[in-house]
Amino acid sequence: MKHLKYILLSIFINLISSTFSFRFGTYNIQAGSNFEHVYNLTETAETIQHFNFDFLALQEVDNKTTRHPVDQTTFIAQYDHEQPFQSYHFEKMRNFQNGGYGVSILSKKSTVNRVLTYHYNNTTPEQCEVSKEGDYCQGLVLFEIPFELQDKTQLSIYFGTTHLGIGLGGLQQLTEAKQIVRWMTDSIINVTHNPYVIFMTGDFNTIPTDDSIKDVMLSLFTDLWTADEICRKIIDPSNLNGYTFDALNPSKRIDYFFFFKSENFPTQIKFNCEIQVPSTLSSDHRPVVLDFDFSEQDK
Ligand SMILES: *[C@@H]1O[C@H](CO)[C@@H](O)[C@H](O)[C@H]1NC(C)=O
Ligand SMILES: *[C@@H]1O[C@H](CO)[C@@H](O)[C@H](O)[C@H]1NC(C)=O
Ligand SMILES: *[C@@H]1O[C@H](CO)[C@@H](O)[C@H](O)[C@H]1NC(C)=O
Ligand SMILES: *[C@@H]1O[C@H](CO)[C@@H](O)[C@H](O)[C@H]1NC(C)=O
Repeated sequence: MKHLKYILLSIFINLISSTFSFRFGTYNIQAGSNFEHVYNLTETAETIQHFNFDFLALQEVDNKTTRHPVDQTTFIAQYDHEQPFQSYHFEKMRNFQNGGYGVSILSKKSTVNRVLTYHYNNTTPEQCEVSKEGDYCQGLVLFEIPFELQDKTQLSIYFGTTHLGIGLGGLQQLTEAKQIVRWMTDSIINVTHNPYVIFMTGDFNTIPTDDSIKDVMLSLFTDLWTADEICRKIIDPSNLNGYTFDALNPSKRIDYFFFFKSENFPTQIKFNCEIQVPSTLSSDHRPVVLDFDFSEQDK
């Protein structure tokens, strides 16, 4: 299986094949500080390298700020010299400390069709220079990654991420989650003709029983941690519920992989997936790791 994955990765994405295997991750990196709040971006990058992601989403990313005068996205993308991330995008959500603060998305493939972005309430990074209580002034960023089946059917994977605010007794998360669902509907679902799947990830700062998840995100998406019919959980015996926060003594699941499949997605493509919340202390959050296979059944 591992061997097959390697071959597939090396010959690349637009190839003719019957199985595509990808490893996705989402990770709130706390701007490169570990669980003890000690800054060490090398540790962050090493931990990420160890997981060998094909596609990675990051939250709480700095770009050339006073506190961390480095382009963190580029540093992480290029840390593994042998297998660097070929495409990456940092979306500056806020002007912060003479630099930028936001979320990033990285891909080991160079074939990214489009980068899609949205800022909550359409606020600009300049308007977010001074943050409001509980409003992290964030938004979304997605890559559209193309691939082609044997019969030349064109498919897309949308891989996206966000970081929700934490204010107003959960109302901040609620208005932002509603904006995600509306944006997905207007910008992808209503306008896309080719078959596709969406993986929407991130730090939602809200637990599964809160309205933002239960009523809003799940009105459109499937939560892959609980979708036993799609995904097998690899469970850490010391963290049965897949809690992602905090890293040392996890007690909440607030980082997610949400999934959506277009109505016209070919039925001959079967999914196989495994999801896990590995233990690492390189941030105050744990990452979520998703291994996802698309298999084309012979007709
Ligand atoms: C930062 O992390 C790296 C990798 O884990 C480690 O080798 C290095 O000693 C750390 N640096 C400091 C200053 O702790
Ligand atoms: C980080 O900010 C600089 C401007 O200071 C910009 O040139 C660079 O593209 C940014 N990095 C990323 C990954 O967007
Ligand atoms: C964003 O817009 C919504 C709806 O227009 C509003 O209810 C909410 O208060 C706004 N949020 C912020 C932080 O301005
Ligand atoms: C998208 O589809 C939904 C549901 O069918 C509909 O309510 C909405 O108005 C549509 N939006 C656009 C921009 O067409």
